[in-house]
Amino acid sequence: MRTQVGIVGAGPAGLMLSHLLHLAGIDSVVIENRSRKYVEERVRAGVLEQGTVELMVETGVGARLEQIGLVHHGIELRFNGHGHRIDFADLTGGKGITIYAQHEVVRDLTDARLAAGGQVIFEVDDVIVRDFDGPKPFIRYHTDSAAQQIECDFIAGCDGFHGICRPTIPAGVLTAFERVYPFAWLGILAEVAPSSDELIYANHERGFALHSMRSPQLTRLYLQCAPDEQIEAWPDARIWEELHRRFATRDRWKLSEGTVVQKGITEMRSFVVEPMQCGNLFLAGDAAHIVPPTGAKGLNLAVADVRVLARAIVEFYRSGSRELLNRYSETCLRRVWKVQRFSWWMTSMLHRFDDNNAFDRHRQMAELDYVTSSRAAAQSLAENYVGLPMED
Ligand code: FAD
Ligand code: PHB
Repeated sequence: MRTQVGIVGAGPAGLMLSHLLHLAGIDSVVIENRSRKYVEERVRAGVLEQGTVELMVETGVGARLEQIGLVHHGIELRFNGHGHRIDFADLTGGKGITIYAQHEVVRDLTDARLAAGGQVIFEVDDVIVRDFDGPKPFIRYHTDSAAQQIECDFIAGCDGFHGICRPTIPAGVLTAFERVYPFAWLGILAEVAPSSDELIYANHERGFALHSMRSPQLTRLYLQCAPDEQIEAWPDARIWEELHRRFATRDRWKLSEGTVVQKGITEMRSFVVEPMQCGNLFLAGDAAHIVPPTGAKGLNLAVADVRVLARAIVEFYRSGSRELLNRYSETCLRRVWKVQRFSWWMTSMLHRFDDNNAFDRHRQMAELDYVTSSRAAAQSLAENYVGLPMED
């Protein structure tokens, strides 16, 4: 098989890249090792920056998002038994975020690609990428035990943190920067109306908790837990008890309980590789970087990368110039590091660290007090949360 761009991974990065390339008349093939059902049901992110929403709407994949996405203009920071609202609309000149599940984004993009005659091949095995240091890279894989090969001009490694593209790059080319946090998140999805109209980020002395949602009938909740926590140790009753404690306020705010329909543990990590490219192989999204979920940035950063990559590829086919391709990493990494900083900062401000001494705890409280009482500090949080402007 021959295409212009071979894309590994049908997550938000791979699918959005294929969609943007298609709109510019460039052919691509996406291969994915999981089934379509699996990727369309995988519960993950839920917060879309305004720029991500605008891109989806402008490129014709925003109809369901506009219909069922929940637009929010603020979040609450809760500590010491009190809630404090950060008013995004006021602080950013009217901007906000939209709650729309990642698997819905994946569904919309997959539908759009298939409706346009695009190729998204699910359930492939034994994927390898080769010869990307020269002009004729190729991807090999198996389907139903038949070997397949895709020859292309470029390979996009959009295969997430555990994918094969990044590890295939020869030793010595990439430098990795990493921080692993001494805690994880236990997340649940519960069949109950959200207890608040907006997201609540709570710093409690027992640990962090987050109240989010997926729809007017579905609440998404997270609890900080130990990094090696076993999910079996958390029957539903224990989860609710801990959530009630961590969200408790002096004025007796009430968290509504419902049937838990999904449960999982997410590790917390900050990770970046530099550069994000090697010859004609370009890494995008979680394949190149991971942020802890506290800033709600991973999906948005994946979309920002492929925007830059699509533009560079389009420019190459239009003019033959590799200038934008050569600058791909540099362009992406400026945003990546700012988002890393923000995600690390939110994580540090809101979680309980086991080595927290009394000094650190006071410093954390002072930080929260500052962010919720200084307009300048609140504005910095708001500007980052709704999404820094794209550099284009
Ligand atoms: P992925 O979504 O991981 O997609 C990679 C794809 O490649 C997958 O479908 C995978 O199956 C496939 N693949 C892997 N290996 C191979 C292979 N060898 N061959 C073929 N295919 C392969 N981000 C936010 O922006 N906002 C949030 O609110 C948020 N909350 C989160 C909450 C949780 C609990 C978690 C886990 C993550 C959250 N994130 C959030 C992060 C976000 O989900 C990721 O950053 C996002 O999925 C990155 O997209 P991606 O396309 O780069 O990678
Ligand atoms: C979510 O709704 O899944 C979510 C919201 C905000 C975050 C992380 C996850 O910071």
